[in-house]
Formats: sequence, C-alpha cells, structure tokens
Amino acid sequence: MATSVTSILERIAAAGKTYEGNEIGSRELLIELGRDLVATLEIPSEFLQRSFWAEPALSAHCKFAVQVKLFQHLQDAGSAGVNPSDLAKKTGVDVVLLQRIMRHLIAMKVVSFSNGRFLGTPLSHGLAADNYQKSIDFCYDVARPSFNGFPEFFKKTEYKLPTSLTEGPFQTAHGTELPFFPWLVTTPPHLDEFDAFMSAYRAGKANWFDQGFYPVAERLVGGFDGSNNEAFLVDVGGGRGHDAQQFVAQHASHPGKVILQDREPVIASIQDKRKLPFESQVHDFFTPQPIKAARAYFLHSIIHDWDDENGIRILENLKLALKPGYSRLLLNEIVLSEEKPTIAATSMDMMMLAHMAVRERTEAEWKGILEKAGLKFLKIYNYPGVAESVIEAELEA
Ligand SMILES: C[S@@+](CC[C@H](N)C(=O)[O-])C[C@H]1O[C@@H](n2cnc3c(N)ncnc32)[C@H](O)[C@@H]1O
Repeated sequence: MATSVTSILERIAAAGKTYEGNEIGSRELLIELGRDLVATLEIPSEFLQRSFWAEPALSAHCKFAVQVKLFQHLQDAGSAGVNPSDLAKKTGVDVVLLQRIMRHLIAMKVVSFSNGRFLGTPLSHGLAADNYQKSIDFCYDVARPSFNGFPEFFKKTEYKLPTSLTEGPFQTAHGTELPFFPWLVTTPPHLDEFDAFMSAYRAGKANWFDQGFYPVAERLVGGFDGSNNEAFLVDVGGGRGHDAQQFVAQHASHPGKVILQDREPVIASIQDKRKLPFESQVHDFFTPQPIKAARAYFLHSIIHDWDDENGIRILENLKLALKPGYSRLLLNEIVLSEEKPTIAATSMDMMMLAHMAVRERTEAEWKGILEKAGLKFLKIYNYPGVAESVIEAELEA
C-alpha cells in the first residue's frame, strides 16, 4: 500500500510540473491520479459514506440550488460573500435549513465559508450559467431516476441486456412507452434542458476542429471543390447548432456553406434563425441525405444513440450523398478502451444503457459498423483528455 501511495504521489508531482507548463491533458491526468490516490486510501466505510450519502445529497442540493438560485446569489455577492441570514432572505429558505445544506456543499468543496460569510467558488460560479442550471435539472429529473431503477429493472428482466427502445430503465422510471427522443418532444421543459445539457456536458474540452485534433485545413479546406456544390460541412443531427456555431467562429475563413440539420421541433426552437452564421434545415436522418457531395458530413454523438441496425440505416441514408473519394464522413464519438476505460466514457455508456438500450463502441465495433454500411474507415483522431474521438471514413472511389 505504502509503495503504491508513494508511486502515485511521485506521478502527481511529475504531472503537476507538466500542468504548470500548461501541457495539454495534464489537468485531466492530475484528476485521474487524484482518484487513484483516493481509491488506494479509502476504506469501505468511507466509500459507503461518500457514494451513498454524500454524493446523492450533493446532487439533490445542486437541484435545490437551481430552484432558489443559490449559485447566482453567491456569484452576485462576489468576493465579499454573503452572511447566512441575508442569503436566507435572498433564497427564501429557512436559515437553519440553509446553513445545513451549505455546510454539506462546503464539505463537498462546491462553495466555501470564511469569516461568517458564504462564498462562491470558480466551480459554483460556473454552475450558475444557464446551460449548467438546465443540465442539473435534466440530470436530476430525467437521468437520475433512470439510474436509480437499474437494479429493480435488471432483476425484473432477469439480467438480460436491454434491447428495446420502448421498454428500458428510462421508460420504467418515467412511466412511459415512448422512446427517449419522442418523449423529450412531449415534455418541452426536458427537451430544452436536454439541448442545454448537450452544449454543457463537454464544455471546456477541446473541439474536434481545434489545433492538434482533426486537421481541418489539411483534410477539408485543402482540396475543397466548390465548383459543383458549395456545401462544405453538414452537421447532421446538430441540435440547435452549438458545434456549428463554434466551428464557424473558429474557422471564419472556411470555404463554402455550413449547414445544420435536425428534427423539426429542434430547428423550430432555434431563436432568430436569420442571425445564425450558417444555414439550418429540417432533416430526418432516417431518410436520404438531401445535401449531396458536401466536403464533410459531421455526426456528433449520433450513431451512439442507436443500435447497429439503426446506426447502419443512418449511415446508408447518408452514404447515398457522399462523393466517392472526396466527401469525408466524420463521426465525433467515444471509442471505448477495454484496458483503460475512462469515467467520461463509461458514464456515457451508462447513460446510453439507461435511456436508449444502446452502447458506446470499441474501435473494432466502429470499424465493423462502418464496414457493414459500405464505408471505408480511414483514421481515428484523438486529443489528450478528451473523451470523444473523430472517426474519419469515406466512400471508396
Ligand atoms: C445526442 S444529440 C447530439 C446533438 C449534437 N450533435 C451534439 O453533439 O451536441 C442527438 C441529436 O439527434 C437528433 N435526432 C434524433 N433523431 C433524429 C432524426 N430522426 N433525424 C434527425 N435528427 C435526429 C436529436 O434531435 C439531437 O439533436
């Protein structure tokens, strides 16, 4: 035990130096090593306390914080902080209840306390932003009940792998027979929260088009042929366009058009489409792709939502539009490692298991699905500390 603690501490010291030098991926490595340290030192009673009391209470308190705008009040108070009775007045919460909840948030290092005043932290200030507030609502009200029901659901179904889009842990938890996406449309606050969650869950991480990730200039801009078709990038199932927005901002001099596609309710929910720096279009990806011979078709977290049969249907409908040897298919997806799975990868796999009876895929599984759809795998691009890779494919010339 002592040896392994010593070796983790040595690795933390080394990673600390690379972090000070702003090395890409060093922050994520330090967090991972911190977890290694806790896992080596923590005894079962502490594990129980943390996992089954402290963490569930923490997520409940984050939901409470959304309800009473706690993180926003702490942000407004700035570095002066706020005393318990003033915070109780602002939030409308009984002062004793508030102090008890705040104590847990302090212990869990989400907020802090000094000289009789509560203070926000960079973390709580970040969580005060609208997309995180809606993400907390989505995670607490939609995802958490699905996870809570896992044991009962698996017992009832005799520990078989869920394969139905309409009879999974999510449907049992939420008393519905609808698949996840149609259910979201029937519950508009959750549709809105989900779209916010999509923009928030990986915020702060490198994007696929950042320097050092996928070489946009070399693989897409170079060789772009706008003579027959101006389409440069089609973001298929791109939600309200947060990826497209960032791409256009960062690659302002890209040639051709950027086109966002999604379902009708999602496109309809985009406010003031005229101000978008890209085109938007309603398109059901289970129907043939209407934009032909674009330089690239980008699908971020799309195929992982579906089983192989439906994933292949989506790819086949897209394949008809690809210009052989020219159009690039870019899947921005998790590639699961068998040897070293990360929490980012496995927790997404659990989200998929709970809500859509599907799974994250290994490299061999990605190659398999591309091959079955008649597409040629080219390469996987990774970036340190980022869970999702870019899987590049094309239609052979
Ligand atoms: C997991 S989200 C990914 C959104 C976005 N690409 C991202 O990574 O943030 C899946 C997206 O697929 C869209 N979608 C689901 N079914 C669809 C369909 N049949 N046709 C087009 N889009 C669909 C959803 O509306 C949602 O925006």
